[in-house]
Amino acid sequence: MGQGAGTTVQVSTGLGPDYAVIVEPGALDRLPDLLGEFAPAHKYALISDDTVFGLHGDRVTRLLAGTGLQVEPFTFPAGEASKTRDTWADLTDRMLDACFGRDSVVLALGGGVTGDMAGFVAASYMRGVPVVQIPTSLVAMIDAAVGGKTGVDTPAGKNLVGAFHPPRLVLADPELVTTLPRAERAQGLVEAVKHGAIMDLPYLDDLERSMAVLLEAESEALTRAVVRSVELKASVVSEDEREAGLREILNFGHTLAHAIEAAVSYAVPHGSAVGLGMILEARLGEALGITAPGCSERLRGVVRSLGIPEHLPPGAAPGEIMSYLGADKKTRGGEVRFVLLSELGAIDRADDWSRPVPAAAVEEILTAAVAT
Ligand SMILES: NC(=O)c1ccc[n+]([C@@H]2O[C@H](COP(=O)([O-])OP(=O)(O)OC[C@H]3O[C@@H](n4cnc5c(N)ncnc54)[C@H](O)[C@@H]3O)[C@@H](O)[C@H]2O)c1
Ligand SMILES: [Zn+2]
Repeated sequence: MGQGAGTTVQVSTGLGPDYAVIVEPGALDRLPDLLGEFAPAHKYALISDDTVFGLHGDRVTRLLAGTGLQVEPFTFPAGEASKTRDTWADLTDRMLDACFGRDSVVLALGGGVTGDMAGFVAASYMRGVPVVQIPTSLVAMIDAAVGGKTGVDTPAGKNLVGAFHPPRLVLADPELVTTLPRAERAQGLVEAVKHGAIMDLPYLDDLERSMAVLLEAESEALTRAVVRSVELKASVVSEDEREAGLREILNFGHTLAHAIEAAVSYAVPHGSAVGLGMILEARLGEALGITAPGCSERLRGVVRSLGIPEHLPPGAAPGEIMSYLGADKKTRGGEVRFVLLSELGAIDRADDWSRPVPAAAVEEILTAAVAT
C-alpha cells in the first residue's frame, strides 16, 4: 500500500450501527470532513492526555476551528494512574461547566488510556453522546480503539467499571506513531504478533520480517500492520455477535499475562507480560500435546526482537502467579482455562475456545521460566 492510500474496515456491532475504521497515513487532515459525515455536532469535546495534547492537540483544534467547528480541549495527566473514576468525574464536571449538551460529540485523541476514558465519558455523559476514536499509540490503533469497550480502573482491579460504547468512527493515522517512543511501539506490536499467532500465519511472517522497520515507525510497514490487525480484530468482534465466545481467542497469552501483572502489582508493562504469556502458553500447549512443537520457540524469537524479556520479572514467584490464576476471570469450576494454539495462526478448539488445564502443568512451565 502506498503513502496516502487508505483502507476502511467496517465493524458490525449488536449494540448500535456499524462503524468504519479508517487507516490512512495523513488522514488526520481529513478530520473536519469526516466529522461532518460521521459525527456532526454542535460542539466537540476533545479529550486527550497532556502528553498527546502537547504533541498533536494544537493541530487538531486548529483543523477543526479552521473549518468553523466548535471545539474545546479537556486534558488529564498522562498514564494509567489517571484511568480512574476521579478523572471521569473531573472531565464530566468540566464539560458540564462548559455547557456541553446532548448535541455534543467526544473526540478521544490519544492512547488506550484516553480511548477507554473518553469512551466512558461519552457512554455516560447525559446518558450517552457519540464518540470518535482517534488513536495515537499502536496499542490503541491495533487493539483498544476497535471493539467498543470503555471504562476505568478501580482499586479492586483494572477495567472493572465501564460500558460498551461503540464509536461512530475510528480514524487511525499511522503517521501519529512517529512521536510515540520506541518502547511504546514495541508494546503495541506485541498485540499485532498475537493477532498473527491466533489467526493469520502469513501476517505473523510479515511482522517477523518487518520488525526492524516497524519499530522505526516506517509508514508503509506500519500501515500494513495496523490494517491487518484492525481487520482481524474487527472480524472477531463482528463475528462474536453470531458466535458467542469467539472474542475469547483474543485472550491468548493474556491468562498468564494478567496473573504475572498482578503478581508484580503492574510493575511490568502489559505488552511485555503478554509477550511472555504467549511464549509460556505456547509451551504449555506443546507440553500437553495440543500445540505443534516449535511454536513457542518461534514466538520467543519474535518477542526477543521486540526487546521484551523472556523470563518471569523479578519478584514474580510461580506460586504467587498460580494463586492469581485462581482469581482469573477465565476460571470456571476450579479449573484454570487457557486459550491454546493448535499451530501458529490457529487456535485449538475443543468444546469451547478455551480448555481446562491441570495446575501442575502450568506450574512446571512457570518454574522453568524463572530467570537463573
Ligand atoms: N478497550 C479495549 O479494548 C482495550 C484494549 C487494549 C488496551 N486497552 C487499554 O489501553 C491502555 C493502554 O494503552 P496505551 O499503551 O496506548 O496507553 P497510554 O494511553 O497510556 O499511552 C502510552 C503512553 O504513550 C503516550 N502517547 C500516546 N500516543 C502518543 C504519541 N503519538 N506520541 C507520543 N506519546 C504518545 C501517552 O501519553 C502515554 O504516556 C490500558 O489502560 C488498557 O487497559 C483497552
Ligand atoms: Zn492485551
